[in-house]
Parts: sequence; C-alpha cells; structure tokens
Amino acid sequence: MVRIFGILAGIGFVIVLLWSLLWGAIAFIQEPPQPTAEHEFHKHPRDAQLPSAGLLGKYDNQQLQRGFQVYKEVCAACHGLKYVAFRDLEALGYSEPEVKAIADQWPIESPSVNPETGEAATRKNIPADHFPSPYPNEVAARAANNNALPPDLSLITKARHDGANYVYSLLTGYREPEAELLRKFPDSKPGEGLHHNPYFANLNIAMPAPIVSEGQVSYLDGTRPTVDQMSKDVAAFLAWTAEPKLQQRKAAGLGAVLFILAFCFLAYGAYRNVWRDKAH
Ligand code: HEC
Repeated sequence: MVRIFGILAGIGFVIVLLWSLLWGAIAFIQEPPQPTAEHEFHKHPRDAQLPSAGLLGKYDNQQLQRGFQVYKEVCAACHGLKYVAFRDLEALGYSEPEVKAIADQWPIESPSVNPETGEAATRKNIPADHFPSPYPNEVAARAANNNALPPDLSLITKARHDGANYVYSLLTGYREPEAELLRKFPDSKPGEGLHHNPYFANLNIAMPAPIVSEGQVSYLDGTRPTVDQMSKDVAAFLAWTAEPKLQQRKAAGLGAVLFILAFCFLAYGAYRNVWRDKAH
C-alpha cells in the first residue's frame, strides 16, 4: 500500500516538473531573452603576463616597487589599502628606515585624538599603521566622487574575476564607445560623470581614467613609464597586496606534489615486492 502511494507521489512530481518545463520552453520560444549591451560588448581581461602568474610564478620586487609608486602617486588620492601596513612594504625590498620615511611622509595622516582637548585630530603615520583611507567615511567618499564609491584596493584582485589582469585591462581600457554599440544600444552611451570602458561589468565606470600619459610617474630604475607599463606595475602591486604569501603558497604546493609523487613510486615498489612470487 505504502509503495503505491510512493509511486503515485513520484508520478505526481514528474508530471508537475514536465508541465513547468513545457511552459518554460513555450515562453522561451515565444519571447527569447533580449540581447544586452553587457552580454555583447563586455570584454574579457587581457593577459598582463605578470611574473607572478602561472604555476611557478614569483613576484618581481622591482616591479612591485614601481607599482607601489604608481599607487602612491596616482591611486592613493581616492583608494585606501586598509589591510596593508606600511611595515609590510619591507617585503618589497624597502629597508626599515625607508619604510619609516614613507610612513612619516604619507600625505594622509592617521586619525587620532588631541590628548589635551580630546577632540578628533590626526597624527603622522608610523610603520605599524595601516594605509589610511583618503576619506573619513563613505558619505565623504561618495560626495567627492559623483556619488560613486572608490573601493578599498587591498583585496580587489581577489574580488574580481582574473583580478590582476582585470585591473591592468581596466586601466588601459578607456576608449570612446564603439559606433556599433551606440547603434544597437543607444542607452549605453555613458551618462554624466561616467566613462566608457568595455572591461567594466556594465561598460560605464564612474572612475575617470587615472593613468593617461607617458611619464605621469617618474620611475627611478630607468624603466620607461608608458601607460601600459604603469598599469601593469600597479596591477602587479595589487596582486601582492591581496596575496603577499603567493610565493610561499606556490612553493609549498610544488613541494607537496613532489612528496606525493615520491610516495607513489614507493607504494608501487612495495606492491611489486609484496606480490613478487605470486601469479596474479
Ligand atoms: C579621482 C579618484 C580616483 C582615482 C585617482 C583612482 N580611482 Fe579607481 N575608482 C574611483 C571610483 C569613483 C571608483 C568606483 C567606480 C564605479 O563604481 O563606477 C573606482 C573604482 C576602481 C576599481 C574597481 C572597479 C570595479 O570593478 O568595481 C579599481 C580596480 C580601481 N578603481 C583601480 C584604480 C587604480 C589602480 C588607480 C590608480 C592607478 C585608481 N583606481 C585611481 C576613483 C578613482
């Protein structure tokens, strides 16, 4: 008896599913989904060919230092790096006194209180401080940026698909919208305060192109500061801020694979040994 109920309930479920599938299919045929501008014109990030990419990728400290310089001179005006402390920069090859000087001379000071009046004040940064945000709060950040919020960049290369390549492509991707895009989707013309960028999810970004001309940053190591190079370097730096231990992770992974391979050979040898004089 119970079994019959079970079978009937199962058949009932199948009928309901088939019914909804049928109506779904009819709706799909009658009204196929409309193509969207994002679907047709959004571009996949270009490969920045960073040395940290790939199985055995490593950071290039010279490049990270150049990327830090670009962050400092260009991006820091609008974006914070709240998960990175000044002293973390020692990993890029800066000495302790250099880090101290960088923290001390950082244009944005850390929040503090006046010890006598108790009022809010600011003080110079020390190496243990994290990079201070350029705005006191979100309302101030939006007010200064046409109501858009510049995100903290510490983890941005983890928060976006193909992170470092995305940042590189975004920075070098500003252009006039294609004529075909405007013909097919007149609504995607960038509105007031927006800029066309095919790498940004909805094609119109509120950030004006931050890196626009060769030599915007003067590199000390003789590398030519082209727009492409500066974008690549800052993308490499942001890959480091999001994953400072990438090299250790890759080395540990490689070690683990070699270890397991060695054990595979040992296990195979043991198997051959145990079954040596048995026909099998
Ligand atoms: C004048 C202020 C300003 C400067 C300078 C600036 N940005 Fe931005 N940035 C913004 C704003 C505003 C947004 C938010 C855009 C939006 O949501 O449409 C943003 C967003 C971003 C995003 C996130 C895009 C996304 O997918 O959400 C990245 C990455 C970024 N900026 C990187 C940089 C880098 C790297 C630099 C330095 C080379 C830089 N920005 C300089 C204002 C700025």
